[in-house]
Amino acid sequence: MRNSDDPQVFWDAFDVETGALAAQLVRQLRIPQARRRGFSGLIGKFDKQWITLHNALLVMERAQRRALKGPERESVESANIRLLRMMRRRLHMMKRISEAMTLVSKGKPRPLYPPLRKKNDVEQTQAFALDTAMAFLHRLINPNGQSEEAKDLGCFSDIPLSSAAFIAHAHAALRVAMAQKRPEPLRFVDVGCGGGMKVLLAAEMFEQAEGYDFDPNYVAAAKKAVVQMNLQRCRIFEANALSFEEYENYDVIYFYQPMSDSNGLEVLEERIARQARPGTILIAPYLRFVQRAETLNCGRVEGAIFVTGTSQKEADALRVRAERIGPQMLRPGQVVRGLGVDWMRGLVLACAVNGYVPDRSI
Ligand SMILES: C[S@@+](CC[C@H](N)C(=O)[O-])C[C@H]1O[C@@H](n2cnc3c(N)ncnc32)[C@H](O)[C@@H]1O
Repeated sequence: MRNSDDPQVFWDAFDVETGALAAQLVRQLRIPQARRRGFSGLIGKFDKQWITLHNALLVMERAQRRALKGPERESVESANIRLLRMMRRRLHMMKRISEAMTLVSKGKPRPLYPPLRKKNDVEQTQAFALDTAMAFLHRLINPNGQSEEAKDLGCFSDIPLSSAAFIAHAHAALRVAMAQKRPEPLRFVDVGCGGGMKVLLAAEMFEQAEGYDFDPNYVAAAKKAVVQMNLQRCRIFEANALSFEEYENYDVIYFYQPMSDSNGLEVLEERIARQARPGTILIAPYLRFVQRAETLNCGRVEGAIFVTGTSQKEADALRVRAERIGPQMLRPGQVVRGLGVDWMRGLVLACAVNGYVPDRSI
């Protein structure tokens, strides 16, 4: 064991050594699983560092307890007492990080969509109650009827997808984005957002959540809600999906059969598929899109999740990778505790982009 007579000297040396190891681990965690080399060996080394800290801490804590009971207790510095306490917390945190890294390394597959619930399922009843309440909130935010211009263009009115269904799709899309190792922050747009409820929900998963609508009354209602709730990462604007030019600016594009006019809908779908960058994730929860996806060169990953410019074979391979991403996530902008240690914070963030968030880090 290194010099544990002076806790600060011990910690400084430990910090440098473990920091270098953490940098290697972070590199491994941030690349696709198939390209990782020696990852479990590095986790083993990290666990050895945990044992080193654990053993040294036992010795230092014992020495400190003895000193506090003895005649020289006045000379025990409060800074050292604080440091040992901090080191104990860091030790716990290292354990949680190691557990998360082990889960990443095992990569146990979990379906992107949970299996359908059985009849008389308790959670199904609860989800239904929550969804009904969300539908009331949706009406509160947007009580407006459809405008004449929107009717003339062949738009559907603001008929909302159920919130529970949307969250399931958005979470699946997030895991697909994590499997793609897309550069953060992730940008989401709801094409035909109505009162903007899905934009609010998406902001819980994606750093930037935007939505636009053709109907000016809907846009005004959604904008008002975003301002009243002070949602800084949301943006609502007025645009026509048939002439919108900026699909390439988004990583995740959601559209819930915006138009009743089937010609208009086809033009809208083609525009999105053509203008979005290859690899863009589409959330399109309606049957017609499932039927058209292949002709638009969009591979179906699963359920309502498609990827532009992707063959079905590539989409299947992506699904396998996405299923190995864990189910957990950090809220965008969430504060992550690294207990004053940069490498610890770096490891927590690198685990989180693989769907595992070490406990106690938030
Ligand atoms: C079925 S609602 C979906 C609302 C919301 N996205 C949701 O999932 O709950 C369709 C929305 O798309 C809008 N929309 C239809 N055609 C549009 C277009 N060409 N450009 C922009 N918005 C459009 C409608 O005004 C309506 O608010």
